[in-house]
Amino acid sequence: MYLTRLSLTNFRIFSRLELDFPRRVILFHGANAQGKTSVLEAVAFLALFTSFSASTDRQLLNFNLPESDPIKVGRIIGEFVRGGRKNTLEVRLIQEPNGGNDSTRFRKEALLNGVNRRFSELYGQFNAVSFLPQMAKIFEGGPVDRRRYLDEILCQIEPGYSKHLLKYTQAMTRRNALLKRLGEVGGPPDQLDFWDGMLAEHGAYLVRGRIGILGQLEDNARQTHQKLTQGREVFRLEYQPSFDPTQPLLGQIALPGVQHLAEAGKIEAKDIETGFADELRKHRKEDIRRGSTSVGPHRDEIRFLANQVDLGNYGSRGQMRTALLSLKFAEVELMKQRSGEWPVLLLDEVMAELDPIRRGALLGLLDKVEQAFVTTTDLEMFEPDFLAQHKVWKVEQGVVSKEGQT
Ligand SMILES: Nc1ncnc2c1ncn2[C@@H]1O[C@H](COP(=O)(O)OP(=O)(O)O)[C@@H](O)[C@H]1O
Ligand SMILES: [Mg+2]
Repeated sequence: MYLTRLSLTNFRIFSRLELDFPRRVILFHGANAQGKTSVLEAVAFLALFTSFSASTDRQLLNFNLPESDPIKVGRIIGEFVRGGRKNTLEVRLIQEPNGGNDSTRFRKEALLNGVNRRFSELYGQFNAVSFLPQMAKIFEGGPVDRRRYLDEILCQIEPGYSKHLLKYTQAMTRRNALLKRLGEVGGPPDQLDFWDGMLAEHGAYLVRGRIGILGQLEDNARQTHQKLTQGREVFRLEYQPSFDPTQPLLGQIALPGVQHLAEAGKIEAKDIETGFADELRKHRKEDIRRGSTSVGPHRDEIRFLANQVDLGNYGSRGQMRTALLSLKFAEVELMKQRSGEWPVLLLDEVMAELDPIRRGALLGLLDKVEQAFVTTTDLEMFEPDFLAQHKVWKVEQGVVSKEGQT
């Protein structure tokens, strides 16, 4: 798939931006703080409905809008071609007064071809894979960063995943509130039955989705990784679920790696649901004491290993870079396998960090996909051939100019 047009209003530094894109590669260059990353962020937003870097969506609204505007609206509109058909996806970011006081509330909404839709219905319409300098946090950050990484892929390729994720999170909030109340004022614990049922039902899908995707990601990533290290390293992803989801089928087993889970193969969400419900019941007393839910996919962990060495704990910069590249290749391939369409590739300042072998591999991937947006502060990073073949656009103070090209 590829974007044919992007229109931004009050998004970050851009009061207004209208760009028509060709297929293939578009290279944005310019000094720091001119708006390059923000263009990529807007494109990624159409796939994830959240920012790949901001901690809150409010940060995305142009901060130069007059304070006196009671309602502030930011817009990202993307027109894209998928399977030969043109679609328009629009996201609105809205900040408005919250009742009578001075505070404001923020909401976002999205429309596909002019029709308001839930975000859960829109995931997977437009797919993007982004590659950002700060992504080493997949290895170095906490388990929450790794779960988020997986969830973002799953939302894009697994219909229904985002809905289960939302319902799971909502049920968790309600269950935790009830746990706190039971801990503080007491009451019959069987009030938890309803929320346990919800968590087990939706959580089982999350675990099932994660098992399914990790095996495939690993298979795909391993091939790239082997090439990049000339066969010197074997890359592995290890899923460490918070409870053993194969237990009802296979009996208690020591920490299941993803290999093992893939062998369990046929495991269905229904089987996982039963096991998860048992675990919730087992942990009930403890959970009431803690006032929070101690078991479930919100506590899952994923580890990345090269030659059995855990990259999060012992990986060198170079190893992490290689692993990241392998994972990104794997994501792109996985999206293509699942949806039949290449995702749009977003590469933010990544060339500078790569040695010639890795850079060559990445350029190879750029040749495969239908469209890629690449940013750089330094055109010297690129071969003259590459620059001659592709569009090079300059970004300066929130204005994009096409340097002698139309
Ligand atoms: N919400 C916002 N409203 C207006 N300007 C913003 C907003 N957020 C960031 N900026 C500005 O955008 C610029 C950074 O844009 P960015 O896309 O990161 O640049 P680049 O990638 O070219 O270095 C900075 O000048 C920053 O002050
Ligand atoms: Mg940038």
